[in-house]
Amino acid sequence: MRIILCGFGVVAQSLAKLLESRTSDLYSKYGMKPRIVGVFDSKGSAHDNSGLDLKKLISAKKEFGSVRGYNKSEKIISGLEMIENLDADVLIETTASNYKDAEPGMSHIINAMKKGLHVISVNKGPLALAFPSLMELAKYNQVLLRFSGTVGGGTPILDYAKNSLRGEKIISFQGILNGTTNYILTNMRNGLSFNDALQDEVNQFYEKGKYEPTSEDLARKKSEKDKQKQLKLLKKQRKAPSMSRIPRHNRDFYY
Ligand SMILES: NC(=O)c1ccc[n+]([C@@H]2O[C@H](COP(=O)([O-])OP(=O)(O)OC[C@H]3O[C@@H](n4cnc5c(N)ncnc54)[C@H](OP(=O)(O)O)[C@@H]3O)[C@@H](O)[C@H]2O)c1
Repeated sequence: MRIILCGFGVVAQSLAKLLESRTSDLYSKYGMKPRIVGVFDSKGSAHDNSGLDLKKLISAKKEFGSVRGYNKSEKIISGLEMIENLDADVLIETTASNYKDAEPGMSHIINAMKKGLHVISVNKGPLALAFPSLMELAKYNQVLLRFSGTVGGGTPILDYAKNSLRGEKIISFQGILNGTTNYILTNMRNGLSFNDALQDEVNQFYEKGKYEPTSEDLARKKSEKDKQKQLKLLKKQRKAPSMSRIPRHNRDFYY
């Protein structure tokens, strides 16, 4: 199975690591040998028809800030050029969600399906803006459009509702759909106010290095420093669990 990966951020790199670590398992269980033949991020691209070396790809992204560092002598091609010209079976869309026009994900998905590629999207934008027409396009081109990873990725709730509750009319649904919300609610249950719990989460986000702060963010962070010292003390006193101490099965979901 030849895969084109759009975007190479948190989700895509996790997928690459997963594919790398489960190569033999996937082959022995499903006879499947997934190969990422092309990948692009906002600054460049990398491709190899025989499959990119995923460890090297992750290192290149880390070192150079772009998959472009994988093979610097290679000509950079745009995402749409890659979809048009590369032989592939599946497109995995992981670029940032945009709810105004859903680009660039929308064009990636449409062009891939028109070319006969199956599509998996974790990008919510295109689905939020054009779900019916995208499903229709998938049907017309006889390809699959899968999107379980967009929400509650760790718990395949959308597929469950679609496949196992076909005869039911779902009236409402309740759950905590992501780790961030669960973290905030857990801290609130342990006595923090919403604002303090939110700020604690934001600070953790900075510390993980996932966010590139603007100068405004940095100024706000500076003024929050003292407050945080007090917050940490308060947290200690109230024994609020850190993320790593919340059991894995409780982090993302509960009913
Ligand atoms: N993280 C989650 O837990 C989660 C869960 C469910 C759904 N999602 C959705 O999954 C998607 C990816 O999430 P993420 O956390 O992996 O985000 P991320 O770390 O910000 O990664 C986004 C990737 O898209 C690339 N990108 C942005 N604009 C682009 C463009 N115009 N052309 C090509 N590439 C572009 C970025 O390039 P650079 O690396 O060059 O910046 C980056 O590699 C988002 O739509 C998000 O809403 C995420």
